[in-house]
Amino acid sequence: MREFKPFDENFSLAGRVALVTGAGAGIGEAIALMFARKGADIIAVDINADAAGAVVDKVKGYGKKGLALAADITDNAKIAEVVEKSVKELGKIDILVNCAGVALLEDAEKISADFWNRTINLNLSASFFMSQAVGNRMIKQGGGKIINMASQAAVIALDRHVAYNSSKAGIVAMTQVLACEWAEFDIQVNAISPTVILTELGKKAWAGEVGEAMKKKIPAGRFGYPEEVAAMAVYLASDAANLVTGANFVIDGGYTIQ
Ligand SMILES: NC(=O)c1ccc[n+]([C@@H]2O[C@H](COP(=O)([O-])OP(=O)(O)OC[C@H]3O[C@@H](n4cnc5c(N)ncnc54)[C@H](O)[C@@H]3O)[C@@H](O)[C@H]2O)c1
Repeated sequence: MREFKPFDENFSLAGRVALVTGAGAGIGEAIALMFARKGADIIAVDINADAAGAVVDKVKGYGKKGLALAADITDNAKIAEVVEKSVKELGKIDILVNCAGVALLEDAEKISADFWNRTINLNLSASFFMSQAVGNRMIKQGGGKIINMASQAAVIALDRHVAYNSSKAGIVAMTQVLACEWAEFDIQVNAISPTVILTELGKKAWAGEVGEAMKKKIPAGRFGYPEEVAAMAVYLASDAANLVTGANFVIDGGYTIQ
């Protein structure tokens, strides 16, 4: 699509189907629920079946269709199944949010191969293979939106985060390449890079003194909330963002500009 398309100024997602990975908790859950409130039907993918089911119950409470799919997305065969079932049940996927992630922190001189591989396999590789599987559908469908959850860790060094930062820098690079390659198919691909967000992952990674020290370095003086990230995802998923692609949006209270 090379033409400007008028868009809804309230960023409606009515008529869209969104697949969100890691939708069972934290940022993924907030995105799935805000998308549903904006009118989208939701496919909630998570390794935790109960958590995905609970989110889908809330989606249905908003009057939207919901499909809970329990899957470990580090398994490419599961990714294929998830995409197959999603299209069978809801007909299409207009929006993909790659949100499932882990933070396994250790000093660089001590980090195990297990921590390194689990981080890269989920944060980076699963996001790519999910994008590839859904992207192929979007190419046939005539377009779509892909939103990748990166992190401030993609652009600034953080102690004990060597695997995590590497995975998130990879996400930004992947976002740029996919955005270039798939622009001709009307697929927009963007990344969001939040500072510490108060989810289970965020609270665990930044518990205690290290968190208090971090907060002092953030000009805005506080950590973020999942809904603040979801609001950016709504914009990026909407037609208002049709010319926005390959970008990395930091939501960090000014942390990375200093
Ligand atoms: N919380 C933060 O401070 C923060 C900051 C920047 C970026 N992020 C990124 O945002 C994303 C979400 O983080 P969060 O804080 O909401 O995490 P979270 O731990 O609260 O939620 C992650 C969800 O992913 C699911 N999951 C884990 N492994 C999976 C797998 N193999 N297959 C499918 N689902 C799986 C979990 O069950 C969980 O529901 C991550 O990519 C994270 O790196 C988080």
